[in-house]
Amino acid sequence: MRTQVAIIGAGPAGLLLSQLLHNRGIDSVVLEARSREYCEQRQRAGMLEQATVDVLREAGAADRLDREGLVHHGIHLRFAGRDRHIDFPSRTGGRSVTVYGQTEIVKDLIAKRVDEGARLYFDTPVTAIEGIEGDAPRIRFVRDGVEETLDCDLVAGCDGFHGVSRPTIPADVLKTYERSYPFAWLGVLADVAPSTDDLIYAYSERGFALHSMRSAQVSRLYLQVDPDAKLADWPDERIWAELRERLALPGWTLDEGPISERGITPMRSFVAEPMSFGRLFLAGDAAHIVPPTGAKGLNLAMADVRVLADACGEWFGSGGSRDGLDAYSDACLRRVWRAEHFSYWMTTLLHTGVDASEFDRRCQVAHLEYVADSDAAMASLAENYVGYAWGS
Ligand code: APR
Ligand code: PHB
Repeated sequence: MRTQVAIIGAGPAGLLLSQLLHNRGIDSVVLEARSREYCEQRQRAGMLEQATVDVLREAGAADRLDREGLVHHGIHLRFAGRDRHIDFPSRTGGRSVTVYGQTEIVKDLIAKRVDEGARLYFDTPVTAIEGIEGDAPRIRFVRDGVEETLDCDLVAGCDGFHGVSRPTIPADVLKTYERSYPFAWLGVLADVAPSTDDLIYAYSERGFALHSMRSAQVSRLYLQVDPDAKLADWPDERIWAELRERLALPGWTLDEGPISERGITPMRSFVAEPMSFGRLFLAGDAAHIVPPTGAKGLNLAMADVRVLADACGEWFGSGGSRDGLDAYSDACLRRVWRAEHFSYWMTTLLHTGVDASEFDRRCQVAHLEYVADSDAAMASLAENYVGYAWGS
């Protein structure tokens, strides 16, 4: 097999890249280790920056998003019996965010790619990437139990944190930066109308809680839990009791309903530099991970791919320029590090450290009060949350 761009991974990054390349007349093959059903059912976050909505529209994959996405103009910051609503448009030149599950984006992109006859292969794990330092890379993969090869001009490593792409970059070239957190998130989907208009980020001495949503009938809720917590430790009644305590506010009640899905996600910050080497380009979780508190993971993945698709357009276009590809890593890393800092900041602002001293807790509440009282602090949170735009 041969193609112009070999894309490893059919998560949101790989799928969107394949669509953007197709729209620019560039051929690609997507190789995905898991089944289509698995990819379409994996529950992930779902808060989209305006730039993410825009690139999905540009790709022609936003029909359902435009119908079903829930536009949000701010968030609630809840702590110490207070609820501060932080409005975004008034602080960011009119920008907002949209709630639409990553799972739905993946379903929409797969349906469109399959409709257009894309070479998108599920149950097809890549086992090796060869020749990225030369001009004829080759991918080895297994399909129906048989080892095959794919020759290409460029390789897009969109295979997530545990993929094979990042380790292909020589160890003496690749630098990684990492931070782990002493907690995880327990996330649930519940068949009950959200008890709030905008998302609630709640700090309490018992730990962090987040009230999000997926539709007018479905709520998405998260709890900070121990990093080694098991789902068996968290029967439904304990989940609701803990959510009630952590989200409590006088005069407000949390509506409860049947839980249809649950999962525990570890929290980690991670960046790999550079994001490209020779003919290999990393995008999305393959290159960087953020804790979910700032809702940046999906948005960063989409932003990488937008830059990469433009750079591929220049390279395969009539000018044949490699400038965009050469600038790819630095261009992405600037945005990545901004989001890394914001996500780390939101995480440490809102979670209770297991070994936090009373001094730490007092500082944390003072910090929350400052964010909830200072226009400058709220503007800073807002401009980062909607996606910081340099020079605007
Ligand atoms: N061969 C083929 N596919 C692979 C391989 C391999 N060796 N290894 C991993 N994959 C696939 C995984 O099965 C997965 O479907 O790569 C895909 C990577 O997809 P994601 O993990 O969704 O990563 P990405 O597309 O970068 O999306 C980032 O996911 O974790 C969230 O917060 C994050 O929202 C962000 C988004
Ligand atoms: C979600 O709706 O899944 C969500 C929203 C905001 C976050 C994280 C997750 O910060």
